[in-house]
Formats: sequence, structure tokens, C-alpha cells
Amino acid sequence: MFRDVSACSTYNYGDSLYWDARYIQEANCGFFDWYQRYSALRPFVRKYISPSSRVLMVGCGNADIQMDVRDMSYFPDESFESVIDKGTLDSLMCGTGASISATQMLGEVNRLLLKPGGVYMLITYGDPTVRMPHIKRPVYSWNIDLYVIPKPGFQRPYGSTATNSLLEPIPTTEKGLLPPDYVIEDPDSHFIYVCKKMDETTHDTISIHPLVDDAMQR
Ligand SMILES: C[S@@+](CC[C@H](N)C(=O)[O-])C[C@H]1O[C@@H](n2cnc3c(N)ncnc32)[C@H](O)[C@@H]1O
Repeated sequence: MFRDVSACSTYNYGDSLYWDARYIQEANCGFFDWYQRYSALRPFVRKYISPSSRVLMVGCGNADIQMDVRDMSYFPDESFESVIDKGTLDSLMCGTGASISATQMLGEVNRLLLKPGGVYMLITYGDPTVRMPHIKRPVYSWNIDLYVIPKPGFQRPYGSTATNSLLEPIPTTEKGLLPPDYVIEDPDSHFIYVCKKMDETTHDTISIHPLVDDAMQR
């Protein structure tokens, strides 16, 4: 939770007007990539998303179609094989009514994904303690693979003996949390949650997280 509080408090990340202004400003300074460059994400995209599939990228400032992710009724049910979200749920989590907004957005994502097999790829700064309560819910029937990737530019400390492979999903606890002995090398790491929509009859036993109004709400 601390990560969310600290990330939200500096700027108005939950306000879409903040982003509109920022895109205008950044356009004058050149291109920027939020969180990660595509080169770091490419292995995950290739692993989970077929090039010929219908993909929806949410929260893109320069998209052809502008809509609120909490109401994407423009699209019929099961319109997409994949939904990619880099920082959009995070933005909602910084706004007022964060939990309600997240539930609305994730409900829409779930509705738009093909069943079974549709993939929601969430790229976020939110660690499992603050994201799993929202995404690991029986109502979604999502099987979730979790990855941790360091912030661009992170250098392993000299002498580090870490052997974690960035490309292998982390075996999580029953609640979807990192195992107690898992060490995150870079405290500014990002997280990738690959949520695969299952058939209700085949999904694993999913533990229930209470959806609390956590510290992400201001
Ligand atoms: C952290 S930025 C990420 C931008 C982009 N996805 C990227 O990776 O660079 C968050 C984005 O979420 C968008 N956003 C925030 N609330 C939204 C909402 N309710 N509906 C649609 N987009 C929203 C903002 O306009 C902004 O483009």
C-alpha cells in the first residue's frame, strides 16, 4: 500500500486532465515511454499475445478512439483476445473512488475478453498486496501469472548472487502474493500480471480477497 500512496501523492495522477496536459507538454519534449520500454516488454507480449489477435490498448493518450475505461460499452462482449494496460489502472487507483473505479474498469475488461483464453496484461508499479485484491476475484475467473521486472537502468549490485529469471512466472502464495523468501532486487520494480480468462468450470480454486477501501484512495 505504501507504494501506491507515495506514487499518487506527488502529482495528480488520478485526474485525466493532468494527463491531457502532460501529453501536450511531452509532445514538445519528445517521445516518452511510461514505466518500461517496449524492448523489455516484448518477451511477455510475444509469449502471451498472438500477433494476429485483436488487442485493445487502454489508456493511450494518442488513441484513435477516446473513451472512459470504466464504460467501454462501445464494444460488444468478448470483442478482444487481449487487453494491454500500462499504467491505466494505476491512474484510476490514484483518483477519488479508486476501488469503485477499479472494479468498473476490470469488469469492463473482463466483459471484453474472449472466453476462454482472453488475456489481460497489466503492467503496473502496484505490488501484489495492492493489485491482487482487485484482480484475483472469483467473478473474473482469471488465472494469473506474475512477473517482476526492474526499472530501466537498474544495475544489479556488485557481487549480487540473485538467480531469479525475469521471464519465469513467480510461484505465488494461495492469495497471489510473493513468497515470503522472494527478494525484490530493485525496490522500484514494476510488475506484470498476465490474467488469463478461464472457463468457469476449469479454473483453479481462487482465494477471495476482501476489496477494501485501501490507502490508494485519497
Ligand atoms: C500512467 S499513464 C499511462 C499512459 C500509457 N498507457 C503509457 O503506457 O504510456 C495513465 C493513462 O491512463 C489514462 N486514464 C486515466 N483515467 C482514465 C479513464 N478513466 N479512462 C481512460 N483512460 C484513463 C490517462 O489519460 C493516461 O493516458
